[in-house]
Amino acid sequence: MNVKVSIVGAGMTGSTTAHWLAEREIADIVLVDVIEGMPQGKALDLLEAMPVIGKDVTITGSNDYAATAGSDIIILTAGLARKPGMSRDDLLAANAAIVRDATEKTMRLSPDAIYVVLTNPLDAMAYLTMRVSGLPPERVVGQAGILDSARMRAFVALELGVSVENVHCYVLGGHGDEMVPLTRFSNVAGIPLVDVMAPDRLAAIVERTRKGGGEIVSLLKTGSAYYAPAIAVTQMVDAILKDKHLIVDASAYLQGEYGLRDLFFGVPVQLGRKGVEKVIEYMLSEEERAAFKKSAQGVAENNLKLQL
Ligand SMILES: NC(=O)c1ccc[n+]([C@@H]2O[C@H](COP(=O)([O-])OP(=O)(O)OC[C@H]3O[C@@H](n4cnc5c(N)ncnc54)[C@H](O)[C@@H]3O)[C@@H](O)[C@H]2O)c1
Repeated sequence: MNVKVSIVGAGMTGSTTAHWLAEREIADIVLVDVIEGMPQGKALDLLEAMPVIGKDVTITGSNDYAATAGSDIIILTAGLARKPGMSRDDLLAANAAIVRDATEKTMRLSPDAIYVVLTNPLDAMAYLTMRVSGLPPERVVGQAGILDSARMRAFVALELGVSVENVHCYVLGGHGDEMVPLTRFSNVAGIPLVDVMAPDRLAAIVERTRKGGGEIVSLLKTGSAYYAPAIAVTQMVDAILKDKHLIVDASAYLQGEYGLRDLFFGVPVQLGRKGVEKVIEYMLSEEERAAFKKSAQGVAENNLKLQL
């Protein structure tokens, strides 16, 4: 294959992403991590699974960034994950150093790559990646909204006893507890959620969605979610490589959209081979606009702490 996706950070999220990507047979995959032998071992194990599912994908593991040279997409998922009691923002200083280093090293070897960032706090790490790389905004995007929306879709489907395929939810804003589930636009087979659910049930689902990451951290105790985040980033990579012009919720650089400027923030974007082709703007109500503003404040405060 002459399409290459490199994943920096071969931990739970990085290696699960490699698994989902390999199943789709859309790119050769490189896993990079600082732990000696670990990315090599995971890559070899995954490579040995390919004959069983009949996928011709090359999967390589390395502790050396040289293996990432000429990548079409770089996924950044290196860094610390949350432990119980921690917020995503608690990870900022440690992960900023890791993301800066990974961006500098991968940029030199893959100057044409599109960056998909996962490391938390997500919106700040995507901002850091863009500023350190000097890339144009369309070539850096953060994974947040597909995951947050999928969590809400799963909860609604369970509550109503319908297929997840019939449930469409839109969760925007910063990837933190102030994220903004847009209940007015979310629907079941076209019928707005507000018309099919009691207000208290809907409010409970909104709250569970906001705290969805924390719910899993407190159950796992030793790390954070990885299956759903990994399939979310896989969908983004698929949309970019296949030039699908797919509209998904993701963290993108805003330049006046939604009245916000100079920050990465969760909004609907159109993804294609050039990266972020377009930021889609909803007509927000007063209440939704206020929730956006509150969420954006937290993101902007984190960006300031980066001292860029
Ligand atoms: N945006 C999202 O939706 C989302 C979802 C899941 C996880 N995350 C974030 O992704 C990050 C990783 O999560 P995880 O669950 O995979 O954690 P993990 O601990 O399983 O894996 C992290 C990996 O990063 C590696 N690493 C650390 N420093 C590195 C460096 N300088 N270069 C290369 N690799 C390095 C570690 O050795 C480890 O293997 C965390 O910050 C987490 O919060 C974000």
